[in-house]
Amino acid sequence: MKTNLSFAAPSQIETECLVAVLLDRGENDKAQPMLETSDKPVLSAASDFMASGEVTGKIFETTMIHRPQGLKAKRLLLVGGGKAKNFSGYELRKLAGTAVRFLKPRSVRSFAMITPESWSAEAGAGEAVKAIVEGAFIGNFDPDTYKSDRKDQRIEELTVVATVVANDQKAQSQLQRAVDDGRIIGESQNFTRELVNEPGNRMTPTMLAERARKMVQEIATQADSLKIETYGADKIKDLKMGAFWSVAQGSDEPPALIIIRYEPKDAPEKPVLGLVGKGIRFDSGGISIKPSDGMEKMKYDMAGGVDLLGAMRAIALLKPKVRVIAIVCASENMPSGRAQKPGDVQIAMSGKSIEIINTDAEGRLVLADGLHYARQLGCTHLIDAATLTGACVVALGMVNAGVFANNEEIFDRFSHALQRSGEKMWRLPLDEEYKESIRSGIADIVNTGGRWGGAVTAAMFLKEFAEDTPWIHLDIAGTAWMEENKSWIAKGPSGIAVRSLVEFVKEFASGDGQQVSAGRTGSSKVGTQAAQKRADSGAGL
Ligand code: BES
Ligand code: MN
Ligand code: ZN
Repeated sequence: MKTNLSFAAPSQIETECLVAVLLDRGENDKAQPMLETSDKPVLSAASDFMASGEVTGKIFETTMIHRPQGLKAKRLLLVGGGKAKNFSGYELRKLAGTAVRFLKPRSVRSFAMITPESWSAEAGAGEAVKAIVEGAFIGNFDPDTYKSDRKDQRIEELTVVATVVANDQKAQSQLQRAVDDGRIIGESQNFTRELVNEPGNRMTPTMLAERARKMVQEIATQADSLKIETYGADKIKDLKMGAFWSVAQGSDEPPALIIIRYEPKDAPEKPVLGLVGKGIRFDSGGISIKPSDGMEKMKYDMAGGVDLLGAMRAIALLKPKVRVIAIVCASENMPSGRAQKPGDVQIAMSGKSIEIINTDAEGRLVLADGLHYARQLGCTHLIDAATLTGACVVALGMVNAGVFANNEEIFDRFSHALQRSGEKMWRLPLDEEYKESIRSGIADIVNTGGRWGGAVTAAMFLKEFAEDTPWIHLDIAGTAWMEENKSWIAKGPSGIAVRSLVEFVKEFASGDGQQVSAGRTGSSKVGTQAAQKRADSGAGL
């Protein structure tokens, strides 16, 4: 999708469809929808509809007006954003996605969206523009690769209409940067979704490693700082990654260890951020085999690992001045005569011994060695992403991903990142008391912590391998796959965590503090407050 930025008056824009946001400024229950633009012809073109009572401004409400009088646009689409006081970039992203998904099947191929005028005056025009572009890319994706009747209904061109003081070159170029950033991030999230959608037979761990190489090559002309190494079983054994290998050993398909380095010349030696991803290509459960009902979903058990590929793509193109190493541990988890058995003891790369209770708790095994290896490569901060536990889905449903942290400072940074990414995640605890659940009678630890607090005990297991390195763990089991179509996103792979990983890395960038902290609003508890605000407003979407 091509992206343009326009500073023209909305009414003067020639487009197949002009999209305007409505916010409900009414107190209490009384709806008072108001258009988020001061453009007079747009206001008057919509006035009959607005007066009719048909339009309430409810979130995701769409009203299409054909041949709007006084506008150069062929159509005017009003999209409701809900209560003005609850509105944020989080909602705006979804409104852009909603506009795309509303227009796609109606044969519209290009449209212009007006940045909500009074809202962006407060929250920052850059944030508004970026949210619109990201949301439009997300909405434009459909997982239809394998459909022979694929409709190719994609939107081809988006114009973001922003209001800036005339001749303010600096403001204009900042907004252009916001458009470009939004496009890079949106495309990278879709790249991840494309890969998560690939079934196990069409993308083995080896093929995934190849695909990662291809991605690095594809962007090489625009970004020369990505280096990739990919390895198979031999290297994993050489490195003594006993926990990773214990999962891989049961499959006929060789595993892959993918290492991508982003080392820009002008970045300081430290920090070095380590991104570690669970890339279980298919999780049958192994000898502790899963019930067949719904087992097909376990093709997306590589979502965390593939998040890293999308994030590294975006990082290489955005060029923040900070070193990053991504490690994806890709493998199948299969039952066979060579598969590990409950009761086996494995020695992880760190030297810790692990008693295997359940071979279906395989994600934490591959991550244990991934995290340790990241520390060995000199990473000073760690973040992992994994579809780790069904227990996290029980705890948080499909709305929030789980976040864990062993250090407050890194959590604070991540909270800022969440605020800018607009992804919903909720912190879960890591108290020492939980450690009792992973004690083993015969080894250092067991790989499953029993029935209660399963998301937490899985995270406690990982904590043993992050040791004293500041670390964040994201459990995306419930959020990596959309179970149904929504107005702003297709059913299927969501690409959750790509944006947060990217924003997290940007938090650490040195030298361009302006850009890094843009959109931040003061207090270090921002993320938690934002989360609380969302909880209070009950916005569960
Ligand atoms: N990949 C699964 C977790 C999962 C569940 C992802 C639902 C997506 C949706 C993971 O490897 C797993 O099997 N976890 C077990 C752990 C248990 C054996 C301790 C689980 O959650 O049941
Ligand atoms: Mn499993
Ligand atoms: Zn798994």
